[in-house]
Amino acid sequence: MPDTIRYLLDGQVREIRGADPTRTVLEHLRGDLGRTGTKEGCAEGDCGACTVLVGDLTTAGDAVRWRAVNSCLQFLPMIDGRALMTVESLTAEREGALHPVQRAMVESHASQCGFCTPGFVMSLYGRAIGAAGADDAPLDEVLAGNLCRCTGYGPILAAAEATPPEPAPDVADALRNLRRTAPLALSHHDPIHDASRRWVSPRSIDDLVRAAEAHPTAIFVAGATDVGLWVTKQHRALETIISLGEVAELRAIEARPDHLVLGAMASYADALPALSNLAPDLGAMIRRLGSTQVRNAGTVGGNIANGSPIGDMPPALIALGARVRLRRGADRRSLPLEDFFLVYGRQDRAPGEWLEAVVIPKPRPGVVLKVYKLTKRFDQDISAVCGAFALEIVNGLVANARVAFGGMAATPSRARGCEAALIGRPWSADTVEAAAAVLAEDFQPISDLRASADYRRIAAANLLHKTFAESRLPAASTRILAASAYD
Ligand SMILES: Cc1cc2nc3c(=O)[nH]c(=O)nc-3n(C[C@H](O)[C@H](O)[C@H](O)COP(=O)(O)OP(=O)(O)OC[C@H]3O[C@@H](n4cnc5c(N)ncnc54)[C@H](O)[C@@H]3O)c2cc1C
Ligand code: FES
Ligand code: FES
Repeated sequence: MPDTIRYLLDGQVREIRGADPTRTVLEHLRGDLGRTGTKEGCAEGDCGACTVLVGDLTTAGDAVRWRAVNSCLQFLPMIDGRALMTVESLTAEREGALHPVQRAMVESHASQCGFCTPGFVMSLYGRAIGAAGADDAPLDEVLAGNLCRCTGYGPILAAAEATPPEPAPDVADALRNLRRTAPLALSHHDPIHDASRRWVSPRSIDDLVRAAEAHPTAIFVAGATDVGLWVTKQHRALETIISLGEVAELRAIEARPDHLVLGAMASYADALPALSNLAPDLGAMIRRLGSTQVRNAGTVGGNIANGSPIGDMPPALIALGARVRLRRGADRRSLPLEDFFLVYGRQDRAPGEWLEAVVIPKPRPGVVLKVYKLTKRFDQDISAVCGAFALEIVNGLVANARVAFGGMAATPSRARGCEAALIGRPWSADTVEAAAAVLAEDFQPISDLRASADYRRIAAANLLHKTFAESRLPAASTRILAASAYD
């Protein structure tokens, strides 16, 4: 049946027939299966109480890659053909005995009301089995997407330290078998639908071309870390959705000699090594974008296509001179990223046109990229201001400057006046002072719940001063590198 979703849970194939495709995995677990260990704290990706692990066959099909995600922001069709583990999975084969990570939580007194505990357990279990984003990351980073309001984090960190690594469950054969014997519901054009909603999941670019032609007003979904909230928080009824998640071509990441091509569906977790390699500051910023769960699901393409004035990727990518590639049918076009953002809430994208890739030039030798994400909280917080500065200083003069900001205007924007005030001038305190003053003419920021207009103006200017200070005193400690640095 084309409207049947099949996935693997604790070694068993589960089938869901005729479901609303915008029902979340969390709703399914709690409402349909009675797996109430997975909690709903916020339903918007912030608290991590709903953390589960999803296992995908790798592109080569020879192994399974597990990743922690927020089940409140995963739509049911997104687990079709995949494996799922919930907190109940950890005790399923132990006749109820606690898993080592759970035992460590108990012995470290790391649970009080217990509401957050299953989410922490799943994040720590993900770390123990080397899941995506948690294999070699510091503990702060692994747990940034899990909030506890009563125990305090010390005991939880102690439990984490006491949890030994272990092999990941090997479900590759079972997943291959599932895909072989039960053709994926989504492997053809027949959409999954209930009475009012339709979910189309093309499996190749050619499929996508046909799907977009057949459903020109459909909403594209990538990782659903934005779109999920349209459903869970805004209660929007999404009629037709085209999921990009199964189009392997859109996940490709190609490092070429002078540029990086990032498929629009590359998740933050997958893109992080290549982007860190391109510009270390960009990598450092991404490690603070959302949480491990958000970065395992969310995509760079979604961040751009969403067009938010406070999206974190555009400023750095604009400063690096990135271009976006768009496609509709057989038509392709490419434009500088800054030109993609027209006005608040409107991007240069026609109905039925999708973002295919972002092409990021490698910085020339001598070009330094500085990226600053200013938030009220160190981890998992949306920026009040995000500033990016790509500067080339040759013989003491500013040979080139590209400066871009988020949070300063209705769209992510270049600071063209500031750039002009820098280029061709000595890289000196006087030049920086003058260029920082010009920022007040480049932008008229607004006051909102994240920051006042005055804060934004002053902070933007100070980021340019900071760039200068860091270039003059490279060994000085100017950054907070982890939330635990506040302790
Ligand atoms: C808890 C939490 C924390 C977050 N923290 C941050 C943060 O610190 N910084 C930040 O910038 N963002 C943050 N976000 C926002 C979000 O994670 C990002 O914007 C993410 O990159 C969106 O990607 P996605 O794949 O989930 O997009 P989706 O939600 O699937 O889609 C987003 C939008 O883009 C469109 N779209 C997606 N892909 C394409 C495509 N290829 N072609 C055309 N249209 C497309 C969709 O139709 C939709 O309009 C956070 C979100 C959550 C839930
Ligand atoms: S319920 Fe809070 S992250 Fe999902
Ligand atoms: S133990 Fe109560 S929220 Fe963490």
